[in-house]
Amino acid sequence: MAKASRAFVCQACGAVSPRWSGKCTACGEWNSLIEEQAPTGSPALIAIKGGKARLAVLGTLASASHEAPRLPTGIAEFDRVLGGGLVPGSAVLVGGDPGIGKSTLLLQAAARLAEIGFPVVYLSGEEAPAQVRMRASRLGLAEAPVALGTETNVANIVATLGSTAPPSLVVIDSVQTLWSESVDAAPGTISQLRGCASALISQAKTSGSTLVLVGHVTKDGQIAGPKVIEHMVDTVLYFEGLSGHQFRILRAVKNRFGATDEIGVFEMRQDGLREVENPSALFLNDRDRGAPGTAVFAGMEGTRPILVEIQALVAPSMLGTPRRAVVGWDPNRLAMLIAVLEARCGVRLGGHDVYLNVAGGLRLNEPAADLAAAAALVSSMSGKPAPEDTVYFGEVSLTGAVRAVSHMDQRLKEAAKLGFARAALPQAATEGDRETKTMRLLPVAQLDELVAWFATPQE
Ligand code: TYD
Ligand code: MG
Repeated sequence: MAKASRAFVCQACGAVSPRWSGKCTACGEWNSLIEEQAPTGSPALIAIKGGKARLAVLGTLASASHEAPRLPTGIAEFDRVLGGGLVPGSAVLVGGDPGIGKSTLLLQAAARLAEIGFPVVYLSGEEAPAQVRMRASRLGLAEAPVALGTETNVANIVATLGSTAPPSLVVIDSVQTLWSESVDAAPGTISQLRGCASALISQAKTSGSTLVLVGHVTKDGQIAGPKVIEHMVDTVLYFEGLSGHQFRILRAVKNRFGATDEIGVFEMRQDGLREVENPSALFLNDRDRGAPGTAVFAGMEGTRPILVEIQALVAPSMLGTPRRAVVGWDPNRLAMLIAVLEARCGVRLGGHDVYLNVAGGLRLNEPAADLAAAAALVSSMSGKPAPEDTVYFGEVSLTGAVRAVSHMDQRLKEAAKLGFARAALPQAATEGDRETKTMRLLPVAQLDELVAWFATPQE
């Protein structure tokens, strides 16, 4: 058998190196290497030396049911992101910055399920029972029959869960507090995290309980981040939001039972998280009407259209290298858009600081936001407000052409629903059969047409 050896494992990405160094060579994180026990023996050796092997059961792809059975939590935004509800026997990882509201969301979901009669176990390794109870009473959930515990030893948890009929839902808050004697590493390290998570996941798979693991995203690498167990679970959700904003967005980044581009929108209030059913109305709530530098983007988040205001500020720079700062959008995308405006449309942004912000704390991933961002930039540069009743969407290519994007009808419908009268959109979008009854369509083939539009007096 191979000798047990020590190895240094990066707590951010899981890379193993034989020597300690200040910076992980794989992911570039600083001070994230911690000494852990390296696994003994190679997998190949284990397979060959296994002695008596059992034959694996092989089956067909056909099954009686086409849909995975679901357990809806009753929190519609949560269910939407999960793909329709919790799947029995599956494991869900809910990650997010500390204080973002993970415990609140899961306590609310756990209480809902318990109230309608499903057995639910909530294990809090971070907060004392009194703290959890205080939170529950603040949320008005003190009467919900949730089984509350504070166990963090995985062997004890597995034994406890196995001693009764399997609960429908098991919440572990958080996975970073778990530890097991059989893993030779300190709690919070990658080895512990992986070992403990895999024990609980296999327990969930065999018992049919849904397992929800809460994981803190950490910046300093002192404890292992939830990224290292993403591959083990069925569904990975991240809870995000800007500090100072009351909106919270739950985003699926991996889902074996649903789409990954869905988002759920919540509002953090005194009495817990509230679902936001019409996010567009919320993101456009306090628009700066009539001010230059804003444009409304008709976006899509998963299957749902969402309208959001993009704000830009272009100001002459005092610095040798002008500042470009962006919140809620890809900085590379902004750099590209600025280059296209410079090179193809004659908009001179080289001597200007450029700030771009997506209102409400939303983070946009769609290239379709290009046209709206360009409108906000050009509007700020020219000092002319973009027309209030217009939405924008379209992808800008490096040639300055405005390209068609997906779901155009849904974007237009949502804009019409919220009272917008016009839409600036790719030329190609106006060629087919479109929802044109209520909206006036302003086709844009090249980005310089949009720039010219801001340069001429508007009706
Ligand atoms: P929490 O769920 O403890 O976050 P996490 O588990 O992700 O660390 O949420 C903590 C924050 O939420 C805290 O700053 C207070 C705020 N909060 C409210 O505003 N209203 C509430 O009803 C609750 C329970 C928390
Ligand atoms: Mg918490």
